[in-house]
Amino acid sequence: MKVTPLSDALGAEVIGIDLTSIDDPVFDEIHEAFLEYQLLVFRDQDLTPDAHIAFSERFGPIETRPDRPFTLPNYPEVTVLSNRLVDGEPMGVISAGDFWHTDLSFSEIPCRATFLHAREVAEEGGDTEWSNIYTAYDTLSAEMKERIADLKGIHVFDRRRNKRAQVDTQFANKADEVYGIPIPDAVHPMVRHHPETGRKSLYISPRFVVGIEGMGGDEAQPLLDELFAHQIRAEFRYRHKWQHGDLLMWDNPCLIHIGRGAIKPPGIRHMHRTMVLGDRPH
Ligand code: SIN
Repeated sequence: MKVTPLSDALGAEVIGIDLTSIDDPVFDEIHEAFLEYQLLVFRDQDLTPDAHIAFSERFGPIETRPDRPFTLPNYPEVTVLSNRLVDGEPMGVISAGDFWHTDLSFSEIPCRATFLHAREVAEEGGDTEWSNIYTAYDTLSAEMKERIADLKGIHVFDRRRNKRAQVDTQFANKADEVYGIPIPDAVHPMVRHHPETGRKSLYISPRFVVGIEGMGGDEAQPLLDELFAHQIRAEFRYRHKWQHGDLLMWDNPCLIHIGRGAIKPPGIRHMHRTMVLGDRPH
């Protein structure tokens, strides 16, 4: 197995691995690379849903939600992200991740790692970009670190309560159905410790964090705006152009990401996604 960094910010490509047949020593090497680079790219993988689930489950329990739209038939663990239409109806979530976020941070126990597998890619568009929130934290001024040390962000699933995120057009006429589901808000430290490395990250995102616990909007919103802008400085980021067969896995406690969309017709981007749960942020 060969591991080649993809940028100065984060990410590495792993060469010489077939994810359908890894033994424990190889798994340990992958795990180590994952902690070091936060995002791993495996090319030319051909994973059935079972194989995709089996690899994901080595990192933790898979998150499933009974009413999640667009899971694969008989596989509630696997969500389809796709712009393909069948009889005029979308086969998957079209614009998943269209604002900077870290997965499932609106949950009490958010996502540890996400595994996204490219079954089909468009010639143009559909990139995904990540930003390193370890580095975002590390590069804050000493005063800012002190100011936010004990603050907690309020994470909200419902886009209608977030002035920084619009309801996506796909779900606009059934927004109540999609966003009105009973998901309580989650309150997490704005500075969290990674469950394995112990490193601190700036654990907020414009898609999910709408306020700061115990702080009025006049103070909280400008502070959040400043931190959101800092989180996505160009030098913290890596942008991925997908190839057919890519399996990417990323570490949500230390990265935020965004789906760049802009798929040029008639391009089709069709992905399978699993997510595994992590720890309660602390
Ligand atoms: C996601 O945010 O889960 C998906 C991002 C993408 O499809 O590029």
